[in-house]
Amino acid sequence: MTVSAIIFQIQSILIIATMIYGISQAKKRLLHKKIMSFAMAWDVLLILQIEFTRHAVEKAISLTDNSIILNIHLFLAVTTVLFYPILIILGRKIISGQKSLIPIHRLFGRTTIIFRILTFITSFYVI
Ligand code: HEM
Repeated sequence: MTVSAIIFQIQSILIIATMIYGISQAKKRLLHKKIMSFAMAWDVLLILQIEFTRHAVEKAISLTDNSIILNIHLFLAVTTVLFYPILIILGRKIISGQKSLIPIHRLFGRTTIIFRILTFITSFYVI
């Protein structure tokens, strides 16, 4: 593994740890909001770092012998990031009073953290 790959993986671990801590603080809504916003912003910054240093998207698109594990990794990574704005919208609505949305936010939230961890695990098989 190159030094930059190790730095990416360390950031991934820290982001996942921050998210798990943030979920444990969900009852303190504004603290949860701050921690999760920070973790999501950091994750997007990590994606930009990987893209600008490795051109990961172009490489993935140009590969002709797409491995199953690469496809799984891409599916997990893309879905995770697509879920971020959904969680933000649901979270804001809950804070402004729509309590009925808590179960759906919780379901998306749990799915997102599981997908984020699986993205991390599968990344070792594609680098
Ligand atoms: C990656 C982003 C996020 C994840 C993974 C996530 C995950 C979760 C999970 C799993 C719960 C349920 C916790 C439990 O049942 O103990 C929860 C609750 C909640 N989240 Fe998030 N969340 C995220 C972002 C946000 C954001 C950005 C906001 C606000 C804008 C927010 C607002 C809330 C609120 C208000 C609750 C309900 C707390 C309660 O039960 O009173 N979340 N979240």
